[in-house]
Amino acid sequence: MEYSAQYAQSLQNSSEYWLKESQQLSWFQAPSKGLSFQPDNSYQWFEDGHINTCYLAVDYHVEQGRGDQVAFYFDSPATNAKRSITYSQLQQQVSTFAGAMQRIGIEKGDRVIIYMPMVVEAAVAMLACARIGAVHSVVFGGFAPNELAVRIDDAQAKLIITASCGIEFDRVIEYKPLVDKAIELADNKPLKTIVLQREMSTAALDKAGDMDWQSFIKDAPAASCTHLKSNDPLYILYTSGTTGKPKGIVRDNGGHAVALRLAFNGIYGMNAGDVWWAASDIGWVVGHSFIIYGPLICGASSVFYEGKPIRTPDAAAFWRVISEYKVNSMICAPTAFRAIRKEDPEGEGVNRYNLKSLRWVFVAGEKLDSSTYHWLSDLLKVPVLDHWWQTETGWPITAPMMGWNNPSSARLGSTNKCTPGYDICVVDGQGEQVADGEVGNICVKLPLPPGASTSIWNQPARFQEAYLAEFEGYYHTGDGGYKDEDGYIFITGRTDDVINVSGHRLSTGEMEEVVSSHEAIAECAVIGASDSLKGQVPIGLVVLKAGVTISNEQLQNELIAKVRAQIGALACFKDVFVVQRLPKTRSGKILRAVLRKIAAHQDYQVPSTIDDPAILQEIEQHLTKFKNG
Ligand code: COA
Ligand code: AMP
Repeated sequence: MEYSAQYAQSLQNSSEYWLKESQQLSWFQAPSKGLSFQPDNSYQWFEDGHINTCYLAVDYHVEQGRGDQVAFYFDSPATNAKRSITYSQLQQQVSTFAGAMQRIGIEKGDRVIIYMPMVVEAAVAMLACARIGAVHSVVFGGFAPNELAVRIDDAQAKLIITASCGIEFDRVIEYKPLVDKAIELADNKPLKTIVLQREMSTAALDKAGDMDWQSFIKDAPAASCTHLKSNDPLYILYTSGTTGKPKGIVRDNGGHAVALRLAFNGIYGMNAGDVWWAASDIGWVVGHSFIIYGPLICGASSVFYEGKPIRTPDAAAFWRVISEYKVNSMICAPTAFRAIRKEDPEGEGVNRYNLKSLRWVFVAGEKLDSSTYHWLSDLLKVPVLDHWWQTETGWPITAPMMGWNNPSSARLGSTNKCTPGYDICVVDGQGEQVADGEVGNICVKLPLPPGASTSIWNQPARFQEAYLAEFEGYYHTGDGGYKDEDGYIFITGRTDDVINVSGHRLSTGEMEEVVSSHEAIAECAVIGASDSLKGQVPIGLVVLKAGVTISNEQLQNELIAKVRAQIGALACFKDVFVVQRLPKTRSGKILRAVLRKIAAHQDYQVPSTIDDPAILQEIEQHLTKFKNG
């Protein structure tokens, strides 16, 4: 398969192209057409198809004689545990858990929140929801109770599935008290809380509706796969936007399965029987698409890792996993490799392991800096492939097609070319296409290909406002960048108030809401400064109320504790600077674009509309400590 011809096909005859792709999957009722437009000009993929994603990911492989193949290699240096789960075993566990959910009245369309560490039971719970058409919403374990409560309310969750604890390096994090607190804060009270008890710390099951996992599944009948419409929701995944309220990105069943099949085979070049590792967390889109659904739909074996790149137990942990499971390819965020490099600059850890199985390594989630790229490719001597995507799209927008003939070679600094169905246009503030090489807003021409979300849970109008309103006919990605003359895309960073900390997407707007609720603060701005390990870290610039006396140290400690308690430790909010004023235009708008540039140590122009240019220098001085970050 040649990239250029295939890619052109995917745009010129997109409906036929994707219909043909859909035929690679086993539908209950195959769709009769790819794309259909509604009277309001919205669109749907595979409108009349009937499918079940759990069937495709699990049962189908058992039926095809792949039942004894490993579906998941669970590896937990955090708890000293290793376990292989075959497709047959997975089918048994998933159908039982699904039956247990049905037994308590969970039905198609009900929402189930999963707040769990990286244990295989989390995947069982996700697949069980998919099996009966319940809509799962996984919440990353690093989020604080308040964030969990917001999601419980927005999703109107009927059930919560959690574990007694998770492990962060050598610390045991008790999950159940966090869940209890979240339920207390939420207006919507779920029917039950199912708790997987782990031996490192068992939880008290003393709240109404609490039940432990084993009792929940005891004698439960096995559930079969419910027939779902292609566009029935599979899951909601909350992600940070520019406002304080996270967006519940909705993923369908049919388009998602078709897209992930193509992505796993075509982009990652992985096939049935291959061993694949997405070193991420089920709380993020990478975890959904490429720890669970993509590899399983394609019949691969997926490594499920409860550990870190370093200190579990050392900086060779990744190399051990690759050699132990004969991993053929992997994906993770560049931060992980920066962390390894920091602890083992010469990469001596690789000498202890045989990494011959590894064909190439994919990275995404944040910018891949050239120094990490060179270090890693020199060390592993396999292609290191940058690619770019978002929670909203669910699968890569730009990437090399490693499963096709002659995939486009890597170009340093670029996340490669568009994948099938994505037609990128770089536009200026007025929506006019800019010349090749010129930086602008990265947009994708509508309709988006299958798999990409078209809706925000509970708020369909918000999808329109957030992504489609600014540039008519385009999906606005929120990323800036440029396209070169050969079609390679270069991402320069977000153009909005989203930052990426250790590959975790966070909203500075949300942090601002928390910071400004402190009684000493008159106003504030939170911006992302460059950080040599985490890519970016948030910095608070705060203006005190007149007459307030508080030491900088006390203020900083209180604000850090507040953000940690309300958003979570993962925000890594650790630096606060008191400033006299925030830079604003004469009409009172904070100059966020300029602040972003200062934080990234990029050149900026002092806008003619600013009321006091000197304030920018004060901020620049505060941020010098992050220079060369
Ligand atoms: N549950 C509870 N707390 C969590 C958590 C989880 N699942 N994940 C992170 N946290 C906490 C951490 O313990 C830490 O708390 P602390 O401030 O008390 O130390 C805080 O959130 C920040 O975590 P993190 O940014 O991950 O920093 P770290 O120093 O603990 O680890 C790395 C640094 C580089 C090892 C780690 O970020 C990593 O493995 N990154 C890989 C990137 C990645 O997987 N990204 C996912 C998207 S692809
Ligand atoms: P998330 O929705 O959490 O996957 O985060 C998506 C955002 O991460 C994108 O909008 C980008 O800002 C950033 N991102 C993802 N991949 C890359 C990449 N390869 N290079 C630069 N930024 C990236």
